[in-house]
Amino acid sequence: MCGILGYIGARNGTPIVHEGLKALSYRGYDSWGIAVQDGASIVIQKGVGDITKTPVIQQHSTKVIGHTRWATHGCVTKENAHPHTNKEKTICTVHNGIIENYAELKTELEQKGYTFASQTDTEVIPHLIDFYIKQGQNFEQAFTTMLGRIEGSYAILCAHDKTPGLMFARKGSPLVLGLGKNEHFISSDIPSFLQHTQTIVHLEDGDYGKISDKIEIYNNGKQITRQPTTAPWDIEIAKKGAYPHFMIKEINEQPLTIRKALNQPAELIKQTALLLQSASTVYLVGCGTSYNACATATYQFSKSGRQTIPILASEFIQHTNFIDNKTAIIAVSQSGETADVLDAVKLAKQKGATIIAIVNVPSSTLARTADVVIPMNSGPELSVISTKTCTSQLAILYTLAFALRAKNTETIAEAADASLHLLRQHSQTMPELAKKMVDAKNIFCIGRNAMSQVAREAALKIKEVSYLHAEGMPAGELKHGSIALIEEGMPVIVFADEETRALTISNAMEVKARGAYVIGVDSKPNPAYDFHIQIPDINGLMPLLAIIPIQLLSYYLAVQRGCDPDKPRNLAKSVTVR
Ligand code: AGP
Repeated sequence: MCGILGYIGARNGTPIVHEGLKALSYRGYDSWGIAVQDGASIVIQKGVGDITKTPVIQQHSTKVIGHTRWATHGCVTKENAHPHTNKEKTICTVHNGIIENYAELKTELEQKGYTFASQTDTEVIPHLIDFYIKQGQNFEQAFTTMLGRIEGSYAILCAHDKTPGLMFARKGSPLVLGLGKNEHFISSDIPSFLQHTQTIVHLEDGDYGKISDKIEIYNNGKQITRQPTTAPWDIEIAKKGAYPHFMIKEINEQPLTIRKALNQPAELIKQTALLLQSASTVYLVGCGTSYNACATATYQFSKSGRQTIPILASEFIQHTNFIDNKTAIIAVSQSGETADVLDAVKLAKQKGATIIAIVNVPSSTLARTADVVIPMNSGPELSVISTKTCTSQLAILYTLAFALRAKNTETIAEAADASLHLLRQHSQTMPELAKKMVDAKNIFCIGRNAMSQVAREAALKIKEVSYLHAEGMPAGELKHGSIALIEEGMPVIVFADEETRALTISNAMEVKARGAYVIGVDSKPNPAYDFHIQIPDINGLMPLLAIIPIQLLSYYLAVQRGCDPDKPRNLAKSVTVR
């Protein structure tokens, strides 16, 4: 998953694109590159690693494209960084996605005498365009012919040194236009140009065309228009403010964002609940943190007498025999662009299922595909690590579960308010606990029922941001094998609530007896806990809040271990590859 950005306009686009790529680096930050039209030729700058560490080239240019990379094909080197060009460097391309038939295209081009400078799939694009131009087509024609040859997912920007403007195409990877004053932007995501304009045009799959002093959009060979809208955020929200990292800023936004998630039109919740009541089967589908929110909420739905089946989106295909027009799918995704989720939803729609999307980006592909959209209202989450959007997703899922049994959601709102005290209290205690765990070889996170899913999420947070190995599992499972890993001083984080405390404490005692350092996340202290993380018990909603102190713990573990909490190694914010 990568970020691409293009600029055409009256100003010097070189620093504008360089800055914009920094706002896209959450989509991938292995390497980066920028190409600028400098007089009659194209000048290219590439770098490996953090784009903020390298000043941009000084060429002034009104036609610029840039790219920030999360490696899929080819390792992390300058040669594999985008932009990629033809041999004469007259054609220049940046791309987000995967060209699935690149190997056969590469062989075909090599047989025609083309040589490749990189290991990437993307490099077939400029060579194909070069070939068709040498066959007598102009740049626009050659670009369109190339589109007919490639298969897979892509968002492409392409520049030709002799042709004004940029060509673009979108299929399966996001692409959005920014309409400024005497200037246009085209990008993988809005934050890259948000400081310049909030007027946006979302492109759809199959759209391609040209931006110059005007915008031409085509689909299936016909020129079309797409209506401009206003970006859902302003740049102030998207900035770090007084915080050193987006992750800690977004963790601290949760008292507000949980309330914003709860602030849904009553009719929307009522109609969605009726849909869920009448469905033969309800699947909750997501990936990573979003899946963990689904799995946690399953227990609230059970309390409402509605069985729901949490499914990892990447595993959804094995359930398609059971999907029909009586099935309801609740697809949960912060970005609304996760390929696994989009694939699952596409399969389900083909079978006639009703799609309900809980999503943070109202203009995302998932939002535009679903039958019902429940917006998370969390504002941009710019850390790669999902924190505030996890509790927002849970709050909405709980609201739906409560609606099924006509239960007042005021208790969920009380939990939102309690999170403020929780953040204040544990912002003091978690740095101290992190110091005790900073060199742990293994960490277990355990709980029962909904708390076992919170334990999974806790382990994911710790792993992905501090690179410490953590494993989340049902507490009852520990004795069936994993307990063999318990060693003296090994941290075991135990999540307990009113319903599960008795049995969970006995599991805590089992590991304590073998030398573990037991950290209890619970409303009540207990002799089994060597360290007690106190959380409030608000009407059985402890699973909604229990993850918050562990988000803080993960953040401090990362900082104490010298990791970047906003851009962890190997990760990307929205995984648009399979
Ligand atoms: C969250 O901390 C993770 N980085 C990741 O698991 C994420 O939750 C997952 O990729 C799903 O993303 P989505 O919510 O945008 O679909």
